[in-house]
Amino acid sequence: MHYILCKDDKWTKELVKEIRGEFTNECEPLKGFPLVEIKAGVNLKASYLAFSSTALINAEVVPEDSVGKQVSAALEVVLPKIDENTKINCHVYALTAKYGILETGRADIVKGKVISGLKKKNIYCLRKGFDRSLPFLQVLILPDRSMAFSSLNTEEMNQYHSLISPFVGGFNNVEDDKRAPSRAYRKIVEAQLLMGVEISAGELLVDLGACPGGWTYIARKQGARVIALDRSPLEETLMQDPKVSFLKTDAFKYEAEEKVDWVVSDIISAPERILELIDYWVLGKHCTHFIFTIKFQGDKEYGILEKFKKVAKECDYRVILKQLNANKNEVTIMGSLT
Ligand SMILES: C[S@@+](CC[C@H](N)C(=O)[O-])C[C@H]1O[C@@H](n2cnc3c(N)ncnc32)[C@H](O)[C@@H]1O
Repeated sequence: MHYILCKDDKWTKELVKEIRGEFTNECEPLKGFPLVEIKAGVNLKASYLAFSSTALINAEVVPEDSVGKQVSAALEVVLPKIDENTKINCHVYALTAKYGILETGRADIVKGKVISGLKKKNIYCLRKGFDRSLPFLQVLILPDRSMAFSSLNTEEMNQYHSLISPFVGGFNNVEDDKRAPSRAYRKIVEAQLLMGVEISAGELLVDLGACPGGWTYIARKQGARVIALDRSPLEETLMQDPKVSFLKTDAFKYEAEEKVDWVVSDIISAPERILELIDYWVLGKHCTHFIFTIKFQGDKEYGILEKFKKVAKECDYRVILKQLNANKNEVTIMGSLT
């Protein structure tokens, strides 16, 4: 069984439609929860589900029992698949009706037992952060207290790159930054965490549709030089910043003088127009990394995501297509040149 989570249960319907349209009718939402089950055997390798937040691929399920017995049963299956003397990513969480994703209570007890079971084989769980180059063990306690667990080796981490998330249960809450000129800054922070790549000091970033400047603010905070494009100026401090070049121009007509490290776009525009940007920046390889939000009006335009997925599969970038926690009626496409 594959378990696919989405941002919240308002998005389950779209996720089911996306799965049915692309993979199989043999998928069922868990009523009242942001979770969809897909029958085992459906091949999700190298695929994209825009409305998923994370996934437990090829998960096995242990029915409700004492925590000790459930964990022993799970480890019996998982341990032979993980090399000894290694570090792994490990997420253990419960899906609850009242609190959503929970790492405390039963999940915390399960995690303690999983960690000590792994330690016996010299397998250590990363305490902080997430490393996409390491294997990944996920344990999900379902609302009926059965336990689903999924283990991916390093090769599978690549194959399911866009479906999994470095955030426990796909849930992320970017820290508040009151100095940012807009709340939109959360999107560029979350996208970098998902990609596992950070904007570095001295890099050049082009910010398309930058006003009032939340994304430019974050790029500057991380030490990048920014070319910011919009019809309206940015917040004054950013306009005065010598490392920000503001261009009052149409972002769709702009062409880079040199290859840039990052191009990011939060332009409010039809998805077809974002495909035009992707055509120039990504297919034309004018950037090393990119982040573009795709904004929808209502729910009639989601079909166009197929075109973004086609590009994702064909381009020379490792792409992630996901609805960020910070996205409203939007999804984000992001990637790095391979
Ligand atoms: C959602 S806002 C961007 C918010 C910004 N990312 C932030 O963090 O503050 C979208 C911006 O896109 C700009 N925009 C829309 N069409 C544009 C175009 N053709 N060229 C440049 N900017 C455009 C709008 O003026 C608007 O400021």
